[in-house]
Amino acid sequence: MNISKIRDRIPALRTCTHLDCAAVSPFFQDTITEMETFLHKRAEEACFDYNSWLEMLEESRDMVARFVNASSDEIAFMLNTTEGLNTVAHMIPWKKGDSVVTSDLEFPSNSLPWFNLQNKGVVVRQVQNVKGELLMEDIEKAIDDTTRLVSLSFVQFGNGFRCDLKEVSSLCKEHDSFLCSDIIQGLGAVPVDVQEMGIDFFATASYKWLMGPLGVGLFFIKKEYLEEMDPPYLGWFSLKDYENFNRPGLREVELSDTARKFETGGKSFALIGGLRKSLEILSEIGAKAIEKRVLDLSQYIIDSCDDVQTPSDRKRRAGIVNIRLPGSEKVAEVLRKQNIICSARMNGIRVSTHFWNTGEDIDKLLHGIKACRES
Ligand SMILES: Cc1ncc(COP(=O)(O)O)c(C=O)c1O
Repeated sequence: MNISKIRDRIPALRTCTHLDCAAVSPFFQDTITEMETFLHKRAEEACFDYNSWLEMLEESRDMVARFVNASSDEIAFMLNTTEGLNTVAHMIPWKKGDSVVTSDLEFPSNSLPWFNLQNKGVVVRQVQNVKGELLMEDIEKAIDDTTRLVSLSFVQFGNGFRCDLKEVSSLCKEHDSFLCSDIIQGLGAVPVDVQEMGIDFFATASYKWLMGPLGVGLFFIKKEYLEEMDPPYLGWFSLKDYENFNRPGLREVELSDTARKFETGGKSFALIGGLRKSLEILSEIGAKAIEKRVLDLSQYIIDSCDDVQTPSDRKRRAGIVNIRLPGSEKVAEVLRKQNIICSARMNGIRVSTHFWNTGEDIDKLLHGIKACRES
C-alpha cells in the first residue's frame, strides 16, 4: 500500500492533520468528482437519464452488500444511522413485558429509540460498562427469555471499545432474541461480515470510516426476517412494482419482497454515487489490509501514551483511541487552531486514525497535546 499516493488523493490532507474519522471523514478526490459529475449532468440533462440513476442505485446496493457479505436484497438506503435504528424499533411487533438489552456506552441514537418504546410496555436494560468495556458475562446476565432485541454498537463512539458481536449473537440465539448493531464506528475501519458475526439488523451511515458523504444511511435486515417485519413508513419506493406511476390513490399495497420495502421515496443519487466511489477505493485496498494498518496506528498511540481509555487488546478496539485528559475540550480547540483535527469525548481526546494516517500525524498530535499540558 503506497500511503503517500493515497494521501495525495485526499485534498483535505494538504491543509490539516486529520485524526477525526469518528466524527466526519475527509473525501477522496475521486468521490468529490463522482458527485460533481452527477450534479453537472443533472443540471444539463434534467432527468432524461433517470433509468441510469436507478441502475447506479442497484449497483451501489450490490457493492454495499459485497462489502459486508450480505445479499443485495438485505440492504436498504436510508438517510442516516438513526433512521435505521428507529426502523428496527418500529418494525418489531412488541408485546408488553418484552425487553431490549443495550448498554450505557451507546451514542444517543442507539439508546433513545429503545427508551422511546417504554410507552408500549417494553423494558430497557442497559448493561453497565466496567472500566469502559462491556463484559460478556454482564451481557449474558442481562438477556433472558423476555429479550426480543439486543442492540449494541460494534465499536463505541467515545472510547472505541469493539464488541465481540459473534459471541453476543450466540447469546441471542439461546433466547430467540434479535441482534441489532450500530456499526458506524467500525465499518470501513475493520471488516464486517454479517453472516460470520450473526447480525440480524444493522444501521450505519457513509460519512465516517467509509469516507462517503453525509446523507446516506445503510440498513441491513437478514433475509429470513424480511417477510415478518412491516416497514413503519410506506411510499412508492416500498412497492414491488415501484415504477408503475399510473395508480393514483393506490390503496392496496404489494410491497417489495426485498429490503427496498423500507425505502420510502426519492434518493440522493449524487450522494449514493459518491459512496459507491469510496467503497470502490476501499475495496481495492482491501478490508484486511485496512484493518491491519488501522490497528497498527492505534497501537502506536496506545504505546505512546500513559492514560489511554481504550482497550489495548487488538480484538477489542478499531480506529478510535481515547486519551484521558482534563480540559480536553479546550485542548481540542487549541489543536484545531493548529489544523490538527480530533474530538473531545468522555473527558479525553478521541483520536481516530484511518489507514491513510501516519506515525507523523500521531506525533504531531501528541506534541500538540504535550505543549497544551505544559502551557
Ligand atoms: C455510534 C454512533 N451512532 C450514530 C451516530 C450518528 O448517526 P447518524 O448521524 O448517521 O444518524 C454517531 C455519530 O457520531 C455515532 O458515533
